[in-house]
Amino acid sequence: MSDGLEGVIAANTVLSDVDGLAGCLVIRGYSLDDLAGRTRFEDVAHLLFDGFFDDMPSDLTAALGAARVAVFAETAAIDAGLLKLTPVEAMRALTARLADGDGLDTALKLLAAPAVFIPAVVRAQAGQSLVPPDASLRHSADILRMLRGRLASAAEAEALDAYLVTVSDHGLNASTFAARVVASTQAGLTSAVLAGISALKGPLHGGAPGPVIDMLDGIGRPENARAWLEAALDRGERLMGFGHRVYRVRDPRADVLKAAVRRMSEGSSVLPGRVAFAEAVEKAALAILRDRKPDRPLDINVEFYTALLLEALAFPPSTFTGVFAMGRVAGWIAHAREQLAGGRLIRPASRYIGPQPRRAA
Ligand code: ACO
Repeated sequence: MSDGLEGVIAANTVLSDVDGLAGCLVIRGYSLDDLAGRTRFEDVAHLLFDGFFDDMPSDLTAALGAARVAVFAETAAIDAGLLKLTPVEAMRALTARLADGDGLDTALKLLAAPAVFIPAVVRAQAGQSLVPPDASLRHSADILRMLRGRLASAAEAEALDAYLVTVSDHGLNASTFAARVVASTQAGLTSAVLAGISALKGPLHGGAPGPVIDMLDGIGRPENARAWLEAALDRGERLMGFGHRVYRVRDPRADVLKAAVRRMSEGSSVLPGRVAFAEAVEKAALAILRDRKPDRPLDINVEFYTALLLEALAFPPSTFTGVFAMGRVAGWIAHAREQLAGGRLIRPASRYIGPQPRRAA
């Protein structure tokens, strides 16, 4: 048995490869460095879906735009009960209204769902009117428009694309494994994506970037970093945005996102200072973790600069996990289809350590 299934290979995949010792991520034959910042999310979704759907067009832009418009109809179901949920829980509830299926039509609706539902829920929770999708826009630009009610700049749309591409797939992480387990029962893509969302929302997986902002706000100034971080560790807390199950070196996604934030900060009066502050916190945290855990390499993970990038794009911290889902949903769908195409029912075994059978009284 391997605790947490660490090191266990549970699937063959053509979709992505995570090299934890070298700090490399390959998505379908392309290094992340070559994709992020140069590729739109729709194109990476196409790359991931390629070969898993018979009727796929050569460009997903129009079909994904139409899917955003189609799923927006579900926002009519937003009611007072749903608005009491966190944005990711409300998005999950709205996604659960979509019918199950295995075809491209279902896949595109699921790809559109977090992108449409997160902005709608946030606006409804703030008492603002909803902004319907514009099918003619690129996916990232439309997400920002639906969130803010006005067109984003090209640089902002590119930064969001860099993020969505960066998180689109990442080997057999917890949410992707959950999606593959459900897909292996032939329950359908919607069920697989709902499993992925549910696994993603935990603080040890996709729930970390919101708390990263809480940490930065708690620290406040670079000179407070050391004492604040030491006190958090003394309380037995983990530092959010650090550590990873697979990477034993820097998570390559952290630097891709840091570069995207840097590109956005050109011309901004506020962002360069925020980046410098985050870098000071990062440096202090890495030094403390090295001192305290000399035997366990703990480096920065994707969530730290995710927090900075999404904050700069004006996403409220409560939505960060939902924005993660906007990107990772492409990977969940592709993995679910790959599982269906070749995989058997996933059904591991457990070792019984309970009491031996005894006679009933
Ligand atoms: N801060 C402080 N200590 C840490 C951290 C951290 N961020 N991460 C791991 N450790 C310590 C653990 O306390 C443990 O120490 P111990 O052996 O003395 O008890 C040791 O390192 C190993 O920890 P595990 O829990 O076995 O490592 P695992 O591989 O299971 O954890 C995880 C990976 C969950 C990401 C962990 O590093 C963590 O909790 N990080 C903070 C949350 C976070 O940033 N999550 C986002 C991850 S990226 C993603 O999922 C997209």
